[in-house]
Amino acid sequence: MKTFRIAALAGDGIGPEVMREAIKVLRAVGKRFSIGFQITEAPVGWAGIDAAGKALPDTTLELCKQSDAILFGSVGLPDRDPTIPKEQRPERAALLRIRKEFGLFANLRPVQLPKALAHSCPLNADRQGGGIDILVVRELTGGMYFGQPKKTEDLGSGQQRAIDTMVYTTAEIERIAHVAFRAAELRRNKVTSIDKANVLENGVLWRDVVTRIGKHYAAVDLEHMFVDNAAMQLMLKPTQFDVMLCENMFGDILSDEAAALAGSLGMLPSASLGATAGDQTFGFYEPAGGTAPDIAGKNLANPIAQILSAALMLRYSFKLHDAASAIDLAVARAINAGLRTGDIFNTADANAKRTGTREMGDAIAEGI
Ligand code: IPM
Ligand code: MG
Repeated sequence: MKTFRIAALAGDGIGPEVMREAIKVLRAVGKRFSIGFQITEAPVGWAGIDAAGKALPDTTLELCKQSDAILFGSVGLPDRDPTIPKEQRPERAALLRIRKEFGLFANLRPVQLPKALAHSCPLNADRQGGGIDILVVRELTGGMYFGQPKKTEDLGSGQQRAIDTMVYTTAEIERIAHVAFRAAELRRNKVTSIDKANVLENGVLWRDVVTRIGKHYAAVDLEHMFVDNAAMQLMLKPTQFDVMLCENMFGDILSDEAAALAGSLGMLPSASLGATAGDQTFGFYEPAGGTAPDIAGKNLANPIAQILSAALMLRYSFKLHDAASAIDLAVARAINAGLRTGDIFNTADANAKRTGTREMGDAIAEGI
C-alpha cells in the first residue's frame, strides 16, 4: 500500500476545528480506497509563535520538506498583531514565506455555485444563469507581494513614505499563463486574462506575454479584460467566465469577490502548486477564507473549504482522482441533504437544516 505523507498545519482561529473535519474525511477516504495517509500535525501562525517563538517554527518547516504535500488551515489574528513587528506576523513570516520557499507560483481557486445553494448567492437567479463555475488562476510568488523595494521610510516632521513594488518578469508570466491555458483545455476552453494595461507597465508586459503563450493553445479562446471591468463583470455576468488568469494582487481581490458568488468564502478551497518534477507536484492546500476569530472554537465554522482543499490535494499532488471525486460527491450529498453551517444558511430555503462544524464533517465522512 502506498503511503502519502501529509503535513497538516491547522494554524489559528477556526483552523484547528476545520482541519479536524478534513482529517476525519481523509481517514474515511483512506479506509474506503485502502490508501495510507501519514498525517503529521505541526503548529504554524500564532500557534507557532506560542509553541516555538516563530510563526513558522524550524521543525514545522522541516516537516513540510519531508512531506508529499501540505494541508494548511489558516493563520493570522489581527488583535495580536500590535504585539510583534510586521515582518514576524504569520501572514508574512509563515504563509508568504512558505509560498516563496516552495516556489508555489500557481494558485488555483475553483469557484462553483451548487444549484442547492442558489439561495446563498447574492445575485438573482437570472444572473446566476445555468450555474457559476469559474477557475481563478492566481500568480502567487510575484507582483506587489514580493517586489523590492518594499519598505516604509521616515521623511521627518511626522511624515512617512510606504513603498511596494510591482514586478513581473517574462518567465514568471509565461509559466502561470501555461497553467491557465492547460486548465482551460480541461474545462470550457476560455481564458480571460486580467490586467491593468491601460496604466501599468506590468499590465502591458502581462498582456503581451499571455497573448504570445495563447498562440500555443489553438483550441482556447483568449480574452483580455481590465481588472476594474472584471470586478464589475463578475457581478453583472459571472457565467461569461471560465478560467480567469490574474497576477497576485488582482487574483487575491477577485477570488474573494468570486467566492461570494459561490455562497460563501467558507466553500472555497485552493491549491498552490510549484513546478512539476516527474510525476510529482508538490502542493499546498488551504481554504481561501481566513481565521474568522469571531466564530473560532464555537463549532460554527464551515469545514467544507478545508475538506475540498484536501480533495484538491488528492487530485493534484497524489493523482488519486477517484478518491478526490468521492470527497466532492460526499460534500455535494451533504449540501443536497440540506445541511448548512451559518454562512450558507438561508431561511428562504425550506430544505435547509442548520448544522455545526463537527456535524457537517461527520456527514461528509459518512458520505465517503
Ligand atoms: C489569501 C489571503 C492571503 C493573501 C493573506 C492572508 C496574506 O488573503 O490567500 O488570499 O493575501 O494572499
Ligand atoms: Mg485573499
